Amino acid sequence: MKHQSSTLAVPEISAVPRHVAIIMDGNGRWATKRFLPRVAGHAKGVDAVRSIVEACAVRGIEFLTLFAFSSENWRRPADEVSVLMRLFMTVLEREVDRMDANGIRLKIVGDMSRFDAKLQEMALKAEQRTAANTRLTLTVCANYGGRWDIMQAVGKMVREQPDATDFSEDQLQPYLSMAYAPEPDLFIRTGGEQRISNFLLWQLAYSELYFTETFWPDFDAAALDLAIESYRQRERRFGRTSAQVLNQKKAS
Ligand code: IPE
Ligand code: IPE
Ligand code: MG
Repeated sequence: MKHQSSTLAVPEISAVPRHVAIIMDGNGRWATKRFLPRVAGHAKGVDAVRSIVEACAVRGIEFLTLFAFSSENWRRPADEVSVLMRLFMTVLEREVDRMDANGIRLKIVGDMSRFDAKLQEMALKAEQRTAANTRLTLTVCANYGGRWDIMQAVGKMVREQPDATDFSEDQLQPYLSMAYAPEPDLFIRTGGEQRISNFLLWQLAYSELYFTETFWPDFDAAALDLAIESYRQRERRFGRTSAQVLNQKKAS
């Protein structure tokens, strides 16, 4: 075997996941159930984001990654897309002070070039302003797609090494848009669907998956604790046998 699989490096496994990645789904259905317009669900979803960011920081989670807008979400009705864009702007305007004061480092990941210039500028400023914070890294994925991420990484890697004919998985890693973070330990999808929807395709290779029926606006600290509890029950074998995992635990 010429190149080893990049998943062979077994990460340290702690009781609390280091990195939690969430598909925040179910805003529209949350609203529809209450005879409200779908956008009311998105607005309520922002409150859930605020409380989950804080709950993660309090629990010692180092990285929280939220899927806010997928590369496929442009297919939605134009008025819903424009409300979502306005909501991003308002959140960036109103929440960055609080995030900064709370030690949150903000990263925005995705193909930002399709966004309004003003929104791009606000995102960049928010990142710069919070860059030195260390309590928790919050990544918001906007116009993000897992396949886009892999392709942009491959493109950069090949451009930088035009004469190379062979690449290893480890060589690609630094070009992925979340190269600064370890791979997610725990993936959560709210809203009842059991699919990845083109989220972090490369990085989820060995994440523990957790699906809940709870709609995103109802996802609170107690719901997060249920997900963490489920994570704690998992045996992360990374290809090994159960006996090997237990022996390693005894040895350490
Ligand atoms: C997730 O909630 C938020 C975004 C995709 C922006 P949805 O808007 O997908 O809510 P449902 O799935 O229609 O209930
Ligand atoms: C996934 O939710 C994207 C975000 C939460 C931003 P969707 O609701 O758009 O996913 P699908 O299309 O139902 O899979
Ligand atoms: Mg949805």
